[in-house]
Amino acid sequence: MDERLARDPAAIRAMFAEVAPRYDLLNHLLSLGQDVRWRRLLVAALEQAPAGRVLDLATGTGDVALAIPRRAVTGADFCLDMLALARRKETRPERGVTWAAADALALPFPARCFAGVVIAFGVRNFADLGAGFAEIGRVLVAGGILGVLELHRPERRAVAAMSRLWNRLVVTPVGRLVSHDGSAYAYLPASVDTFPGRTRMAELLRAQGYEVLVSRDLSCGIAALTVARWEGA
Ligand SMILES: C[S@@+](CC[C@H](N)C(=O)[O-])C[C@H]1O[C@@H](n2cnc3c(N)ncnc32)[C@H](O)[C@@H]1O
Repeated sequence: MDERLARDPAAIRAMFAEVAPRYDLLNHLLSLGQDVRWRRLLVAALEQAPAGRVLDLATGTGDVALAIPRRAVTGADFCLDMLALARRKETRPERGVTWAAADALALPFPARCFAGVVIAFGVRNFADLGAGFAEIGRVLVAGGILGVLELHRPERRAVAAMSRLWNRLVVTPVGRLVSHDGSAYAYLPASVDTFPGRTRMAELLRAQGYEVLVSRDLSCGIAALTVARWEGA
């Protein structure tokens, strides 16, 4: 658990490999289906991106990559078990999502090759958030769009208290039961608690050369959508 909270990449990768077979089921169950609506908002953020290929980073089982319309799409993740499930889920391979094994902090892509990058529930696991945003900037064209969907600790006290209760009574025990992984679903709330709020995340993005266009709470601040434009070189 400690290694995961230190965002050790090997420990994070091993945890996702372990929960991969039950990941989708648990996602929908533990968010009461809200994850589907949140991802739709993330995909819509790409409408602001210039023409060109987009990257779904930390694609996991590929739900975001497979929902992006009218674009050439790359889905990348550093967990091969998750990528294998994404590939299997693709019912229209002729649409041609390109799947790639890639670490977000050292992307195997040339500079300025994506018009947009989206990440759902991925940045919370990055070993270094600022370095991750800088690396994403490297592969974005000038004016390219970054959309981030992430879980945060709710700022409103009543919502935070309810969320803690939900995590303790539902997320951790149900996650343990369904995924057969004793601690992955204890990591989830702990990783949210130790992750910056969306305001801090917006500051980090600005410090890396992005203009923040949207920073908004979803579902009373349990999650947030952040959309930024890459202004860097
Ligand atoms: C919670 S899942 C989210 C998956 C998917 N985006 C979704 O919406 O369900 C987090 C994913 O991020 C990946 N991930 C975490 N850190 C990463 C990194 N540094 N580079 C690439 N992928 C990473 C994990 O392997 C995992 O598949």
